[in-house]
Amino acid sequence: MDQRTRALRGENIALSFGGIKVLRGLSVEFCAGEVTGLIGPNGAGKTSLFNCLTGAYQPQGGSITFDGRPLDGLSPASRASRGVVRSFQTVALCPDLTVVENVMMGLARNYHAGWLDALLPLSRGRRETGEMQNAAVEALASLGLADARDLFPQQLPPGMQRLVEIARAIVGKPSVLLLDEPAAGLNNAETRDLTQTLRRIASPDLVMVIVEHDMDLVMSLCDRIYVINFGEVVTCGPPEAVRRNENVVSIYLGSDDD
Ligand SMILES: Nc1ncnc2c1ncn2[C@@H]1O[C@H](COP(=O)(O)OP(=O)(O)OP(=O)(O)O)[C@@H](O)[C@H]1O
Ligand SMILES: [Mg+2]
Repeated sequence: MDQRTRALRGENIALSFGGIKVLRGLSVEFCAGEVTGLIGPNGAGKTSLFNCLTGAYQPQGGSITFDGRPLDGLSPASRASRGVVRSFQTVALCPDLTVVENVMMGLARNYHAGWLDALLPLSRGRRETGEMQNAAVEALASLGLADARDLFPQQLPPGMQRLVEIARAIVGKPSVLLLDEPAAGLNNAETRDLTQTLRRIASPDLVMVIVEHDMDLVMSLCDRIYVINFGEVVTCGPPEAVRRNENVVSIYLGSDDD
């Protein structure tokens, strides 16, 4: 891939826990304008890689850059302020906040008024809260969730909770969107709707990476797919090439996760 393409790059990332090597000098390149899939068996290191890219884990080796600028050592919040956001494998919504308030949390980095401004009758706080609310409602509406705005997360079925997480991730118009198993817990119809939604979210400026076990979703949505196993890249290529790759067939596509 052309080095000038805006991309999130990880080079030689090494991560271990107590002597157990989880990522073994793994290199990836996720480019703007592409939807990249990241697949591999349970325990392969997919979520750990996301954790390294977002700053939740500090790898012992390697480097991570976005658009040529290093992200190493930056906190998850600093990386989010550079537009690197994610959704979680296990839905992580705040149960005491309404749906729209949860989505507004995804905008905290874009606004300067703190919660104090929002609570006190100060004009900056009121104006910014109103803007955040409008943006959150717009993001919810784009995912067909406008009617759920004033409900609490636990009042929604799992599939809709996942969409709320995605709304929170996209509300700030990210540059990099990392989705960890967005179809987990969704039924077939919900997964088909999600595939359409993700296709709509994809844009030439966005780096989108999807970890997913649902092969129909991955194969139909992704431009390129990385297969990882035991913390190493097995292969990377367009869906058809990956589907035909013998190593992939033996380690993954024939397994129960398919
Ligand atoms: N904080 C941690 N402490 C110890 N071991 C960890 C930690 N995080 C991940 N691991 C280990 O790293 C390995 C990779 O886990 P990871 O969650 O990245 O896999 P995965 O590819 O996302 O799997 P799945 O498809 O099941 O979600 C596993 O063996 C896991 O136990
Ligand atoms: Mg995982």
